Amino acid sequence: MKILVLNGPNLNMLGKREPGIYGKDSLEQLEKNLHHLCQKEEVEVDLFQSNYEGALLDELHEATKKGYAGIIMNPGAFTHYSIALRDGIAAIDLPVIEVHISNVYAREEFRSKSVTAPVSIGQITGFGLYGYELALLALKQYIQGRG
Ligand code: DQA
Repeated sequence: MKILVLNGPNLNMLGKREPGIYGKDSLEQLEKNLHHLCQKEEVEVDLFQSNYEGALLDELHEATKKGYAGIIMNPGAFTHYSIALRDGIAAIDLPVIEVHISNVYAREEFRSKSVTAPVSIGQITGFGLYGYELALLALKQYIQGRG
């Protein structure tokens, strides 16, 4: 089973960016954590980060063709207003789990609205980078249950 992890804008800055909110670990550390978990879970994982909406859309559109069984996505700030990403998720027949490192519901009001969550199978928010690991386990279970 192959899973794609998509990270949106500013997530390349993880570790340097507002560490009090997003922690001190980098995107490379996230990749290591996920590869470690994947070995145990016998899942394959690829990570892709972009600051561009269109690049994220291209990845969503090509995911089925590339053999992914599901997607874990942190759309960053696009979460709160990108109808294009929402439509992109709705357009593909793959389960998507939305992840946020911070608890978006405990922050500014504008972060408590997600336009992408309603077209995802679920959302994990507020558990730091561990949220991606939780999402991976949940997605594997979901895909297996789907048959
Ligand atoms: C974020 C939360 C968003 O509100 C913010 O714009 C981000 C990161 C998170 O992972 O907590 O870039 O998605």
